[in-house]
Amino acid sequence: MCGIVGYIGHKKAIKVLLDGIKRLEYRGYDSSGIAFIENGTLRCEKAVGKIAELEKKLNGNNFSTHLGIVHTRWATHGAPTMENAHPHVDCYNEIAVVHNGIIENYDYLKSRLEQEGHIFKSETDTEVLAHLIEKYFQDNLEMAVMEALKEVEGTYGIAAISTKDPQKIVAARKGSPLVIGVGDQEYFITSDVSASLEHTRDVVYLDDNEVAILTLNHYETKTMQNILTHKKVEEVLWNIDMIEKGGYEHFMLKEIHEQPHALRNAMRGRIDDISGSVKLGGLISCEKELREAKRIVIVACGTSWHAGLVGEYILEDLARIPVEVEYASEFRYRNPIIEKDTVVIAISQSGETADTLAAMREAKHKGAKLLSICNVVGSTIAREADCGVYLHIGPEIGVASTKAFTAQVAVLYLFTLYMMTLKGRPNLKYSDMVKVIQSIPDKIQTILNKDDEILKIARLYKDSEHALYLGRGYNYPVALEGALKLKEISYIHAEGYPAAEMKHGPIALINKDMPVVFIALKDSVYGKILSNIEEVKSRGGRVIAIATEGDEQIVEKVDHVFYIPKTSDTLTPILSVIPLQLLAYHMAVMRGCDVDKPRNLAKSVTVE
Ligand code: G6P
Repeated sequence: MCGIVGYIGHKKAIKVLLDGIKRLEYRGYDSSGIAFIENGTLRCEKAVGKIAELEKKLNGNNFSTHLGIVHTRWATHGAPTMENAHPHVDCYNEIAVVHNGIIENYDYLKSRLEQEGHIFKSETDTEVLAHLIEKYFQDNLEMAVMEALKEVEGTYGIAAISTKDPQKIVAARKGSPLVIGVGDQEYFITSDVSASLEHTRDVVYLDDNEVAILTLNHYETKTMQNILTHKKVEEVLWNIDMIEKGGYEHFMLKEIHEQPHALRNAMRGRIDDISGSVKLGGLISCEKELREAKRIVIVACGTSWHAGLVGEYILEDLARIPVEVEYASEFRYRNPIIEKDTVVIAISQSGETADTLAAMREAKHKGAKLLSICNVVGSTIAREADCGVYLHIGPEIGVASTKAFTAQVAVLYLFTLYMMTLKGRPNLKYSDMVKVIQSIPDKIQTILNKDDEILKIARLYKDSEHALYLGRGYNYPVALEGALKLKEISYIHAEGYPAAEMKHGPIALINKDMPVVFIALKDSVYGKILSNIEEVKSRGGRVIAIATEGDEQIVEKVDHVFYIPKTSDTLTPILSVIPLQLLAYHMAVMRGCDVDKPRNLAKSVTVE
């Protein structure tokens, strides 16, 4: 959410900054802006809309600057207008700041600064930072930033430049990620490693309450109390190909198609070839607590929360451990009960979601052992957890999460098998359970190979205004996820429901114009779901069924059938979600929607 890039080095900064910020456009894209110092003057350009608009404004200008900051915004305070776009400047146009996060006491700070004579031009919380830095500026930019931040309550990742101390970028972090890219005589400060990956894979992750000072041939990090910190330079394992579209029209489509490969990567090295047992190296330090765990609480948001729901079903079914799944945003504020043998699992693709992070901190405060399931290595959630498992599926750029969901479910399944061993709950079918997950990537591929069938269904229903997704048991969370995919990228109103609950309300909506997607697999609730299908059909509803290969019986009961290969009930969500991802994708594209950057959304929501 909101992207930040700062650059200082030997290259022409404008191009580096624009190329970098385009990589972060998926984090927020309602407006953007850049600030740099050219011939001793602070220049600031802004544009409403996508970054291409900003680029147009800068085209044709041959600026020679080697230092600057740029921002892509996801509005929190104030509409997406030119005035509210970052960077924000002080009264004299000498200091520019970009910010990700929320300044909670900005109202108070703003009125105080106004009383002191500062003139504000925007409705944003960020602008107070520029004025505070102006107020405290004495000798150098870093001291002014540190003094200013002492007054601030809330969260921030910021980068600032000033004509009064023109050879440096100062950045600071509390609650919003920032990473220093360490290049060859060039430095970057970015809110996500992908922005500097083209130039360097060496990075330094800033911690909360740390400041970074980047100059032409040096960088240093300090505490807010001006004490130097010594940080490890880490190597990012992602490469530039992984953040490109690789011939696909959209990142989302690429990521849907990457799923067989992504799942193989998520399992790689985790299943012992000889014994067949599951090894999760990142959990070794928590083995004792996991062995003694009496209850697991999963906290997450969005698609990760849906994966958590599937995890609940798997863990309770196979490992017989009580599990609760909570929206992170609710968990945090409802004074939850955490006992000493409760393990809390935070699931987050990005590892930066503010609500999930806050829920983790709440759980830690109450004494829970914290485990994370994240994709982004070095992310805040991964670092704050006591132990964790990475997905290892490469970057996910499309705002609508796809490969992260299936990998999260796969990892939760492996975690379940791991817990069964740890808790000494042998199951005669253990080796079959291992084999079945190993067969999943090929089965996903067979589904992807039939994409044209989904395309035909999408064509028939693309003009719908509403859609209902129904599933039971393991596929109830998939119904939620299918509906979320459709609504977030196509703007068709869609609801997911446990199929039997339909008769307690949504059945009133059934008519021939609303497609009803049933996940109707040959599993333990097959008979029940057939009855639910009858209920819809008898009211004139149109039914699209995701069914198990070989199920002839369903054909005459529904309007369209899409078959997926048979697998164990526990793993069906990984397969049944694929046609739903494709259906949402095709319908959105046919409706002319920007699937990778749906309106009002952001990939990584770093504000509460
Ligand atoms: C945003 C994204 C969703 C994602 C959710 C949680 O809303 O648009 O795709 O599921 O955040 O993100 P996380 O990174 O914590 O999994």
